[in-house]
Amino acid sequence: MIDFTLENLTDAVVEAYTANATSTRKAQILGSLIKHLHAFAKDVELTEQEWIEGIQFLTATGKKCDEQRQEFILLSDTLGLSMVVDAINHPKGGKGTESTVLGPFFVDGAPEVESGSNIIKRDLGGETVLVTGTVSDENGNPISGATLDVWQTASNQLYDVQDPDAPEWNLRAKIKAHDSGKFSFVSERPTSYPVPTDGPVGQLLSAGGRHAFRPAHLHFMVAAPGHETLTTHIFADDDPYLDSDAVFATKAALIAKFEKSEDAEIAASYGLPVPFTTLHYDFGLMALNEG
Ligand code: BEZ
Ligand code: FE
Repeated sequence: MIDFTLENLTDAVVEAYTANATSTRKAQILGSLIKHLHAFAKDVELTEQEWIEGIQFLTATGKKCDEQRQEFILLSDTLGLSMVVDAINHPKGGKGTESTVLGPFFVDGAPEVESGSNIIKRDLGGETVLVTGTVSDENGNPISGATLDVWQTASNQLYDVQDPDAPEWNLRAKIKAHDSGKFSFVSERPTSYPVPTDGPVGQLLSAGGRHAFRPAHLHFMVAAPGHETLTTHIFADDDPYLDSDAVFATKAALIAKFEKSEDAEIAASYGLPVPFTTLHYDFGLMALNEG
């Protein structure tokens, strides 16, 4: 038998999980995970009390999860892990639009609506905004058949799924772009908002002396035949939280300006007052790598 010590334990555990692992990738992931976990405990000289508090924290995180709430994704987001995974899988320097976190509030199956639709289902008196743009390929040629899933908070800082008083699919839709790649929709100007803090992640943010706010943004999932689906946000350029996003998901290339327009013809065609607020952003999708 092995006489386990602090010096030989890590190698022994790694060997136990990698020697007969069912794939080389599993062996790589498990081996590295064990090495880093052990190194972490040794680095901070973890006490037994701290170890049990860690176990209780993870237990509470699991218990907070249900169909609507994914506290583990929120934990990954607030620790910056989600953005590490994003950066590994979508490196900068490509021609397409940059991606960012999905977040916990995407709901699959939003109603498909024509470009130009108004997606406000309840008027909270927020600022109305006309969102316009195009979906192109990586060389700037318009793509036909694109759809844009869009979701965002209302001016009360809540997503429809967090707000029992919100109508279903409020500020959420799947927009069908025109064959020219152009799309538009009428929505409410999003506000900055706090990520949920009534669970273990809220305690973590407090322990780190961090605020919980995300800068105002609209979420997009842009898809088109033959192209990689893009998950991203558009951020408001004047938001005070751009430099301290609770989930580290801001990127300079995803910032856009909410501007005033006095174009009476456009206003009339969308039923908007003059002046009205507009936001324009052009998306670029990468061709699907079939290899
Ligand atoms: C969001 O933008 O919806 C979001 C992203 C990460 C954590 C919480 C919320
Ligand atoms: Fe969001």
